[in-house]
Parts: sequence; structure tokens; C-alpha cells
Amino acid sequence: MQKKPDPCSFIIFGATGDLTHRLVIPALYNLAAGNLLPDKFCVVGIARKGMSSDQMKDSLMQGLRKFATRPLDEAVVTRLFECVTSIEADPGDPPSFDAMNERLDKLETARGTGGNRLFYLATPPRAFLPISQQLGRTGMLKENGAWRRLVIEKPFGTDLASARALNAELLKIMDEHQIYRIDHYLGKETVQNILVLRFANGMFEPIWNRNHIDHIQITVEEKLGVGHRGGFYDATGALRDMVPNHLFQLMSLVAMEPPTRFDAHSVRSEKAEVLTAIQTQSEQEALHNSVRGQYRAGRIGDTEIEDFLKTPDVKPGSTTETYVALKLMIDNWRWAGVPFYLRTGKALAHKRTEVAIKFKQAPLAMFRDTAVDRLSQNYLVISTAPTETIELQFNAKIPGPSITIDGVEMKFRYGDYFRVDPSTGYETLIYDCMIGDNILFQRADGVEAGWQAVQPFLDAWTSAGGRGLQPYKAGSEGPEAANALLTRDGRSWRKLG
Ligand code: BG6
Repeated sequence: MQKKPDPCSFIIFGATGDLTHRLVIPALYNLAAGNLLPDKFCVVGIARKGMSSDQMKDSLMQGLRKFATRPLDEAVVTRLFECVTSIEADPGDPPSFDAMNERLDKLETARGTGGNRLFYLATPPRAFLPISQQLGRTGMLKENGAWRRLVIEKPFGTDLASARALNAELLKIMDEHQIYRIDHYLGKETVQNILVLRFANGMFEPIWNRNHIDHIQITVEEKLGVGHRGGFYDATGALRDMVPNHLFQLMSLVAMEPPTRFDAHSVRSEKAEVLTAIQTQSEQEALHNSVRGQYRAGRIGDTEIEDFLKTPDVKPGSTTETYVALKLMIDNWRWAGVPFYLRTGKALAHKRTEVAIKFKQAPLAMFRDTAVDRLSQNYLVISTAPTETIELQFNAKIPGPSITIDGVEMKFRYGDYFRVDPSTGYETLIYDCMIGDNILFQRADGVEAGWQAVQPFLDAWTSAGGRGLQPYKAGSEGPEAANALLTRDGRSWRKLG
């Protein structure tokens, strides 16, 4: 039985935006349906001038009806929406924040939600700091007997310097324990399961090191192109959009040392520590150990994908990458000499997210007569997409009189063992924030360690301009050059699809 969070107000900046509609409101509905919202609870949407509470309710309702992950129970909908309130506030108009504070005080008294406030910043990143500063100035982030928490969406900065500056400014206004930096990858069951797999099973941890592991591949491939996000994506690119956050979450959970306790401090410290140990590369090394690509027109199934350069709001001649592959090394005893190969891209042939741990080959003298290409590689593969699975690949004897070998697999599918209600992935994260558990949120040092590791690639690519950018056809496996990153080490990417 999960505990109920304290009474609180859930205050959303960017309440009429896409993120709120697509993820936040459907997640709140799923929590309500599971009876996991506080008994006294109120959703407050921060609005532009002149938006009434009824209009706010309608807007959120539209989002829920469009993006709900399961059939709606109207009684739950009524309960969730009954208290929706609209309050006007604009960081460009500081007095509006004083008025907002007074409105919230009154609302809390009327509804008995106490003074606990969760501020959810579902806004473009440029608004993070101005909003936080106004919340700070008006005393709304002071915890006097009630908690005050701030949820921030990625991106946390656009490089190491801006991430440091953002963290430093936020920490002038509030304490680290009040900041919940969300990465939706940490809401995925299989991602959370990486820690359980490693540390709750005696058989994996003894072989989880350079003595037994040859290398690790982390793949996040997407079929979708950039679509209507041309402006954002052109300024961001695949590396910033995916690597220091999502791919590094996967990497740090796989590579971290065992924490002494399963609590936010220990787990987040170990995650930050292993990211800090990623080898810093010179510009030359960074170019040698990276491949960046950009998609050209192509077809994925029945969908025509247009050239990235023709996407609305993408600058003519843009050199922004839509694909990146990297080779990283971790400088510590566990991982010395074990490469981590990372790849992610848009408009590819498959939707696939996986961490593949490749074990070292067994000494094969006794099977000398078996063609090497008949021997399967030993992989442990943890996937979150297209389905949540954990799979072990090994060799087995083909039935019959002679010793012939073939690769087989053992597969654990989440859905086969557990009842999994379709969810947005935000439910756990929002619930954890309401109960004050920040184990699944990023701490400032972890964010900065991530940017530190990718900064050499950003610098090297800025110096190189468009040189080295590899075109690839939409619907393909990505640029050919990404294969060379592994073949030159005598390895190859796992075949997907
Ligand atoms: C987001 C990125 O953070 O993650 C998107 O901004 C990307 O560009 C998305 O498509 C991928 O998430 P998922 O859960 O589909 O792998």
C-alpha cells in the first residue's frame, strides 16, 4: 500500500501548453485513478491575463481527453477537476506574483490544503529563472512548517557554463532539496529496474566489471523526425537533447558503484561520481570518438519524412546534428579499458531504446570446429522500447547427435509478469515529488558532470563547423560512419529491428 502524499496545491506554470496537456494532466489523472493523490488537493493553472477558472478547466480537460493513457472514469475526472483554479501571474509583472501568493493563501485556507506547494515549471527554459526569482522574492519558496518544491523540466542549461550558472542562481533562491529536476527516463520502470537487477541479485554484480564485460552499447533510436519542433531542435541538436540527460541516466545507472543505501543522497552521489569519471577528451580525440549525422528525405513505413533542412524553422544550411554516436571511457577501476558506445538519432528505421552489455567471449578451444559466426555473442540487453524487457543471449547446443551450437535468448517481459497499466511515465515522478523523495530527480552536481562530459564534443564540433557532418537517409540505420566507430575496435553495433 503506497502512502498518500500530504495535502498540497499543484501549481502549473505553462498550464495551457503541450507538456501539461500531453503528460502532466494525464499523469495526475492516473494518480487520481489509483487513489494516490492527497485527499486535499488543488490544481492551479497559472494563466495569461483574463483566463477564467472555467476556461482553464476546459483547456486542461481537452488535454486529458486527447492524451489520456486509459479509459476515463468520469467520477475521477470530476474529483480531479473540481478544484481547478486559474491565477494570473507573469514574471515580467512582479506585483502579479504578490497577488498570486495572496490568492494561494486564501485558496489553501478555503480548501484545507495546508501551505504545501508544488510549483511545476512546464515552460520554455528561458522562463525557469525569472519565475523562480519571483517565487523567491515573494517568499513563496520559504519552508515555514510547510514544504515548497519546484519541478523543472530539461534542458538544464545548454552547455557546462550555462548549467553551472542556472544551478548557481537557483541555489541562491532555494535549497537543493526543494529542486526536482525531472528527466522522464527515470520514470520508466525498466530504467528504475536497472538498480534492482544489479543490486538485488547476487549473480550479476560479481561479473559487472572489466574482467567480464567487453563493452557496453547504449542505443536510443527514434523513428520520428523533428516535425514541428524545428526551431527548438535546430538550436539544440541530438547531443544536447538526449545525451547529457537521457543517455547519461542510463549510463550512470549501469556504471555506478553500489550505493551504501538506497536513498536519494547515496544513489545520486554515486551517479554523479561515475559521470565525473568519464574521460575528458581533447578536441582531436572528441572528433575521433564521435560521429554526427543529419537526415535527408526518406520514408519510414508509409510516412514520408522530409529533409531536415526543409523542416520549418530550421536555418538554411544548418549543421545541427540529428544523429550522434560517441565512444566514451570511464576512468575508474571497474571500467578501465571498457568502452561505452552511445548512439541516438531521429528519423531512423526503428524505435528502440536499450542498454546492451556485451560479455567477453569464453575461451573457445573446445569448440574449434564450430564456425565463429555461428557462435552468438553473450549480451544482457535491457530495453525500454519498443517493449520493456530484459534479455539474456547465450549459446546452446542444437538438438541432434553432433555438437552444433546456436544463439538463443531468455526474455523477461514486464507485461508478462506484472499488471502494467498504460501510463505516461510521469506518475512515479510526480508522486515522488509530492512525498518528498528526490531519488529519481537530478541533483546539480549530476547535471554538471553530464555537461562536463559532453562539452569537448560541443567544442570540437563548433571548431569543425559542418566538417564531418554525415548525411543519412530517413528510415535508414543512421550514417555509415557510425559503424566505423566500432569496427576499428574490432566490434560492431547490435543489429536492431
Ligand atoms: C525528449 C526529447 O526529452 O525525449 C525528444 O526532447 C525525444 O526529442 C524524447 O523524442 C524521447 O523520449 P522517449 O521516451 O520517447 O524515448
